[in-house]
Amino acid sequence: MAIQTQDIEKAVAALNEGKLVAIPTETVYGLAAKATLPEAVSQIFKVKNRPASNPLILHFPNLEAALPYIKKPSQDVLKLSETFWPGPLTLLLEKSDLVPDIVTAGSGRVAIRVPDHTLTLKLLEKLNAPIAAPSANPSGYISPTLPLHVENQLGQQIPLILDGGPCSRGIESTILGWNETNDPVIYRMGTITPEAIKKCIKRLPKILDSEGKKVEAPGMLSKHYAPKTPTLITDHLSAAIKLHSDKKLGIIRSLPGKSELPVFKEFILSSTGEFEEVARNLYEKMHEMDQLSVDLMIIETVPDEGVGIAINDRLRRAASVK
Ligand code: TXA
Ligand code: MG
Repeated sequence: MAIQTQDIEKAVAALNEGKLVAIPTETVYGLAAKATLPEAVSQIFKVKNRPASNPLILHFPNLEAALPYIKKPSQDVLKLSETFWPGPLTLLLEKSDLVPDIVTAGSGRVAIRVPDHTLTLKLLEKLNAPIAAPSANPSGYISPTLPLHVENQLGQQIPLILDGGPCSRGIESTILGWNETNDPVIYRMGTITPEAIKKCIKRLPKILDSEGKKVEAPGMLSKHYAPKTPTLITDHLSAAIKLHSDKKLGIIRSLPGKSELPVFKEFILSSTGEFEEVARNLYEKMHEMDQLSVDLMIIETVPDEGVGIAINDRLRRAASVK
């Protein structure tokens, strides 16, 4: 069992000793190591069972702290950081020599962000070094949005969880970079939308969303953010429930409603269908349903617009067949 604490000093001490600490952010809990200690960072890959070819995001308390770790930032980067940080936007930028190779898996670009969580911002200030942190789940499983999720999945393998309560955003950050022709590209959708980015830098980023593809060896399968329970996603719940009515069903609805046919368990993600609320509750309800030993989890998709695109992206990955 990991110790759950709100004591930042304990977390700083553990990180300085090269230990791993689960940390809260506004998106999901991260599995943190002090980024300047390659031996500590290597533990992240072991504990998560993550391929060494999959690079990690560096977390900073503000842009100034990140400057030594990147090449001179462009005007767009300055604008974006001013507008969205602290917040769920990760920027993929040319790295400086200070970034250990193990963090970027040998790539010349480093992913950086400033998380919007008071405890973790204080932790970063006190540590006085960047934190490397992927989501604090075993590779391929649903990301944690509560200390309990981290404890259930990794509690045996890490000493400390910094308890910052539930994550306010609930899904992973938007990842933005620039391609060879210097066009903005979104590599992973999140709660910061292409439209919001366009408002800031006057250019609409393309959505590439290569997450999962590039990190996999040929022949590996793209199951990500996935529960153990077989999972189906649909925009037509009642038909899906009818079709599978012979099974012990767990239903996750984006909007209030109730199945006409008997189902084992039904969760509702939002009272209004507001995407932010759906995103905030999604992983928590998936974790909860995954504990209930249902035969099939059926999750309702949302309209494919704005933050809905990121939600549906996570749903598709959760449901993709192994
Ligand atoms: O919201 C988040 O971003 C959370 C919190 C903890 O900050 N972190 C997170 O990390 O989702 P992770 O490792 O689960 O997902 C990061 C994604 C991975 O798909 C990784 O391949 C990509 O970012 N990535 C990280 N560094 C990269 C780099 N240098 N080049 C390309 N992709 C990178
Ligand atoms: Mg992850």
